[in-house]
Amino acid sequence: MENKATLLSGIKPTGDIHLGNYFGAMRQFLDLQDQFECFIFIANLHALNQIHDADILKANTLEIAKAYLSVGLDPNKVHFFKQSDIPQVSELCWIFNSITNVGLMERAHAYKDFVAKNGSGGAAMMGLFDYPILMAADILIYESDIVPVGKDQQQHLEMAVDIAGRFNHIFGETFKMPEGRIGDETATVIGLDGRKMSKSYGNTIGLFDAPETLKKKISSIKTDSKGIDEPKDPDTDNIFALYRLVADPVDVEQLKMRYIQGGVSYKEAKDLLYEALVNFLAPIQAKKKELDENEDYVLKVLNDGREVALERAEQKLREIKTKVGI
Ligand code: ADP
Ligand code: TRP
Repeated sequence: MENKATLLSGIKPTGDIHLGNYFGAMRQFLDLQDQFECFIFIANLHALNQIHDADILKANTLEIAKAYLSVGLDPNKVHFFKQSDIPQVSELCWIFNSITNVGLMERAHAYKDFVAKNGSGGAAMMGLFDYPILMAADILIYESDIVPVGKDQQQHLEMAVDIAGRFNHIFGETFKMPEGRIGDETATVIGLDGRKMSKSYGNTIGLFDAPETLKKKISSIKTDSKGIDEPKDPDTDNIFALYRLVADPVDVEQLKMRYIQGGVSYKEAKDLLYEALVNFLAPIQAKKKELDENEDYVLKVLNDGREVALERAEQKLREIKTKVGI
């Protein structure tokens, strides 16, 4: 593990994890965990901006940890931990606060969007304003080489590079420049109503939905009104868009041909999707059930990850503090 480049990413502890999260975010970590030394943490400090309820934050944190372990994140390959377990990150955030211009932060899209929606900047939390600096501390303290993020986080990553450069300029060479790996925009998963799958639209298929729920949700997928014999367009149909993600590639090809030729009803397509989805989710849900019954194991994984991350962060912070004179 030691000679591999370091990959780091943070995951927001959101509830109701859905297929969009899986195909858009979770899966890319699984694909990379063999190639890099991975530090992956649950960004519970960042989540404090949105969640002001201890029970919900704790429950979401545990839930996302179990979700990642259920889909195949391997704790033998990945240092998996909670952001708040590494207090050095918050300390470094303060040091970065002291060398970062307000003007740079005012350009952050997430902050600007909030202000645009909510009137003057006064309504925004300081935590939202400071969000990119905490993220820079996350990235830079572990000397990350590669940081996979969604497109919406690209600007934050650029700010981290800016802050690293500024620190190096003032205090001498200390940080290496991380490289972003931006998620594929074309990987957007469509929800039940044809819009982007998102819990804010209430159009999700949950990774842990029970079969009855899946059945109901699938029956509500919007389609056009083409009859059984009419040819259908696999590129625009919402049922097929989901089927191609979860079904066996041979079956996907077969259904595609039947769509193009005509002869398949949307009702039958929904039944096929239901079957494929239940099969696809079964092993993930079985693993989750196992973890639900063994939360101590999940806590142990997070604690083991914490120990490695702590050691790395402590060492780097010592060097940084010496440079700044504290
Ligand atoms: P939501 O829109 O449901 O609130 P989040 O913002 O919590 O989802 O998303 C967490 C991660 O999952 C992000 O990295 C995001 O890029 C990814 N993601 C969420 N929804 C989708 C989707 N429909 N398609 C692809 N990726 C998605
Ligand atoms: N802000 C990221 C998001 O909303 C989560 C995050 C926090 C992160 N710190 C990070 C991602 C450091 C990458 C690197 O998804």
